[in-house]
Amino acid sequence: MKIAVAGTGYVGLVTGTCLAEMGQTVVCFDVQKEKIVALQQGRSPIYEQGLEPLIQKNMNAGRLSFTADEKEAYGEADIVFLAVGTPEKEDGSADLTYMEAAVFSIARTMTKDIVLVTKSTVPVGTNERIRALMERWKPPFLRTSVISNPEFLREGSAVHDWFYGDRIVIGASEADKEAAELLSRLYEPLGIPIVRTDLASAEMIKYASNAFLATKISFINEIANICEKVGATIDDVAYGIGLDKRIGSHFLQAGIGYGGSCFPKDTKALVQIAGNVQHKFELLEAVIQVNNRQQALLVEKAKQHMSLRGKNVALLGLAFKPNTDDVREAASLVIANRLLAEGAHVVAYDPIATDNAKNHLPSTIRYASSVTEAIRGADAAFIVTEWDVIKQTPLSVFREKMRTPIIFDGRNCYSLDEAKQANVTYVSIGRAEVVAEGCEVKKGKY
Ligand code: UDX
Repeated sequence: MKIAVAGTGYVGLVTGTCLAEMGQTVVCFDVQKEKIVALQQGRSPIYEQGLEPLIQKNMNAGRLSFTADEKEAYGEADIVFLAVGTPEKEDGSADLTYMEAAVFSIARTMTKDIVLVTKSTVPVGTNERIRALMERWKPPFLRTSVISNPEFLREGSAVHDWFYGDRIVIGASEADKEAAELLSRLYEPLGIPIVRTDLASAEMIKYASNAFLATKISFINEIANICEKVGATIDDVAYGIGLDKRIGSHFLQAGIGYGGSCFPKDTKALVQIAGNVQHKFELLEAVIQVNNRQQALLVEKAKQHMSLRGKNVALLGLAFKPNTDDVREAASLVIANRLLAEGAHVVAYDPIATDNAKNHLPSTIRYASSVTEAIRGADAAFIVTEWDVIKQTPLSVFREKMRTPIIFDGRNCYSLDEAKQANVTYVSIGRAEVVAEGCEVKKGKY
């Protein structure tokens, strides 16, 4: 069986590489030639733990190759995984231009019956549209099957998630039952439960999963905001509710909101999908609103303590979460821009994502090459991403290096006891504030 993958972004590259690791022969296609050139040399265009060595291993074994030639990719393929980007349009809906271009390119180069497997997150109904487009564009004597097979990979642990995911979703119409069987057999060696359903339900499972997880995050963030006002501690509250198996302990980490390439985009897209069928998804609209507010919260908190004008501020962490170089929709971007607007001088540090962040941030921001360099002489530090190298920096180091040891921690990296012991002013999420002893900095007085 020959497998092709359309698109070498996170999803496509992980899909192609992991299928090759499972023993399949895979060719990955991308229209961006420079990406393909890098990949042909065994270099991954994205930072993803464990991916590059796996790419090299499977290339050396002759199972994995990369091409920018559509004929070479699709001409002999039995199965094509569609993993092209579906970016957000101005109105929040998904832009399917790349998807349709990929379908067209497959239709005009295919030479045998083909199974199209959609990995990209696409609005409900898109797979039916892909089928209709294929019928219009493909050679009449060839047959295509269309399967919806959404992915649930997390950036930073995508390779692990491929092999140890919670479920595999395969959606197909009755007419494509055989193709669905074929795909199930392909995944069988992973031993992961397979959910077989129709196309629309498979598409919906992906959106509903991401929307639910985003809801959990906004919910715990709201609880955290209330905790601060009633004198409760979010860590204990989250632990206490998470032990209830019906709630579960995952995704109850309060902070500065969700970012990344999926949750912000998919929640907005689902509001749109609902709106298209005259359903106002009020709950999800509120989830999005809460998240927008939460991303700006840390600066609002800081403004209650001090004027930021002319202050040196260390911004620790730029990636939307640790172990990735991705800054898409990261809270760091919102926070950095607000700090600049308040007149602060910002020195940012991230172990991996700095280059990506530079493309999204104003040039007035300076970049440090370590935590210590960023906080040296700073008037305030903002912890935005909970990288190990950041959260393992003892608070005593902040106390020692900063001009005034005030820390606004958006990820609750330290305990209040640690803050008291180090004698720093420590403002986190959903917990009491710790004010450094002997520090003239008091609420609103600085
Ligand atoms: C997510 C989904 O988890 C994955 O299944 C889907 O395929 C793609 O979207 P990802 O965006 O890589 O994956 O990151 P994830 O680890 O889910 O975190 C998303 C965001 O939520 C991050 O900004 C993270 O900091 C935030 N988050 C997560 C919280 O604020 N609190 C939590 O408890 C969990």
